[in-house]
Formats: sequence, structure tokens, C-alpha cells
Amino acid sequence: MKTVLPTSENSLQFYNYLTSAVAPRPICFASTIDNDGLPNLSPFSFFTIVGNQPPMLVFSTLRRMRNGTTKHTYENVKANSEVVINVVTSDIVEQASLSSCEYPDGTDEFLKAGFTKLASDFVKPFRVAESPVQIECKVVQVIDTSDKPGAGSLILCEVLAIHINPAILNEDETIDPHAIKLVARMGKNYYSRAFGEAVFEVEKPNVKLGIGFDGLPENIRNSTILTGNDLAKLANVTALPEPEPGFYDEHIKKTIEYYILMPDELEVELHRYARKMLADNRVEHAWQVLLSV
Ligand SMILES: Cc1cc2nc3c(=O)[nH]c(=O)nc-3n(C[C@H](O)[C@H](O)[C@H](O)COP(=O)(O)O)c2cc1C
Repeated sequence: MKTVLPTSENSLQFYNYLTSAVAPRPICFASTIDNDGLPNLSPFSFFTIVGNQPPMLVFSTLRRMRNGTTKHTYENVKANSEVVINVVTSDIVEQASLSSCEYPDGTDEFLKAGFTKLASDFVKPFRVAESPVQIECKVVQVIDTSDKPGAGSLILCEVLAIHINPAILNEDETIDPHAIKLVARMGKNYYSRAFGEAVFEVEKPNVKLGIGFDGLPENIRNSTILTGNDLAKLANVTALPEPEPGFYDEHIKKTIEYYILMPDELEVELHRYARKMLADNRVEHAWQVLLSV
């Protein structure tokens, strides 16, 4: 492994490693206002949820590398403790990027980047009409990690209200990841799309206790075919399944007949077949394939 320390000569390279590895990151498109009531809009990808009761978000503004000065967003939230966090979608990502230019004090990035202002219900900063989710927040704490150039300041925000465009909701009123079309920030100039083929499901294991890797039969655990992800799906069952001959399909029967005198090859073939089942999340069937000899 290549090991790099924060004290290394090349601090930009270190930053690139961190931001490329801790990725993709959601983007907080922060709308604030200054003391004179002038709007400011900037994207920040050092951003996440940190609690639900009360609902809290945090994002981090960094001091400018070249001179250690703080950003307008930081100054604005220090001055009046209010922010609207808008989400960034593939439809507005170029505009959001444009708004990140270091425009001089008092520049209205809504105007510069072509966004429409919507009045908020609980705070003074505007919402971004083009963003499908707009979150009104009260800033409850600002934590400076240092005053060196590049230092982050955590802006801890309590959510007062979420506004959601109905166009991104499923019939059951949940947000459809393919409709919201979120994008995320990665290292350097890279972004990623969080919809289409990029989206997949992993069954939540927290309602039941899976048997775990150590509960898997040794030949399965040490399979040369099944991957860690495959084994994790198998290890998520609550008890080791029993073989059920009624489950065996024609493919299993033919495979067993063909390889009957070659047990090692038979195992490899069955593991390959089980892998296919697991790729379709047919875990019960995969178990039966694996237990068929
Ligand atoms: C997608 C994206 C994500 C960004 N994330 C951050 C971040 O997390 N922290 C930060 O300090 N700057 C970040 N920046 C840079 C700021 O947006 C930029 O410095 C901006 O000019 C700050 O504006 P302000 O001075 O009006 O607050 C990001 C830029 C882009 C395009």
C-alpha cells in the first residue's frame, strides 16, 4: 500500500487523495444572505446528515488555500444563522459549478448562474426554484477546526422544513432516485450520477440476525467462485437452510449427472450457478443450489 501523511510536501496531492477516496459526496447548494440582505449561493460537497431528532445537517466551508480567508457563505451564516440547502441534480450541475466562482463580495450568484429565487417560509435566504428539494435551516453551531489556510469550519444546521417537488415522488410519496437525478462530487473535476444503472438495492439486515460468514459451511466460505458480496448475501439468512429436493431445477439435475465423477468440478459449476442466482437476489434458490450435493 502507498502511505501518505498529511505532513507530506505536496499538500494539494494529499487533498486530491482525500477528496478522491472519500467520494462520491452529496452536494449542499447553500443559499445565504449577507448583513445587507444580499443573496449568496455556493456549492459545498463536504456535506452530510448527522441526526434526525432533531434533524441536523452539516457542511464545511474551507478557508481559502491561497490566503486563509473565509468564504462568503461562512461569513453570512456567522452573521445571521440561516441557510437554505438545495440539492444538486444533473439538470443544474453546470450552473451550480458556475456559481462556485470566487465572485467578489455582494455578487448575487442566483443572477450569475441563472437560478430563480423562491421566498422561504421560515428563513430569509431564498430557495433555488430549479432544485427539486430545498431545505430551510437554522444554523445552530459553527465549529472552526483551525485558522490555517484550508481549515474547515463545520456549519451545523437544524432542519426547519423540507420542500419537495411532487414530480420526484413515487405513488407512495417516497422520493424516486431515478426522478430526483442527484449528482455527487468526487475527486478533482469528477462527478457521479446517482440514478439509472448506478442505483442498486441492498437488503437491510437490521431487523434480523444473519448467520454471518462464520456460520457458512467451510466449502462455501472458502469458495474460489463466490465473492465477498455473494457470501454476505448468503450469510444474511437467519438459519442455515435445509436442502429441499423439490427446489432442484433441471440445470442442477443435469449438472450433477454430468459431473458426478468429478466432485471438484461439480462444486465449481454449482458455485457458478449459485452466483448467477445471487446476482438476481434469488438467495433461497442459491442456497438450494449450494446444498444440492
Ligand atoms: C461541487 C462543488 C463542491 C464544493 N465543495 C466545497 C466544500 O465542501 N467546501 C468548500 O469550502 N468549498 C467547496 N467548493 C468551492 C466553493 O463552492 C467556492 O469556494 C465558492 O466560491 C464559495 O463561495 P462563497 O465565498 O460565496 O461562499 C465546492 C465547489 C464545487 C463546484
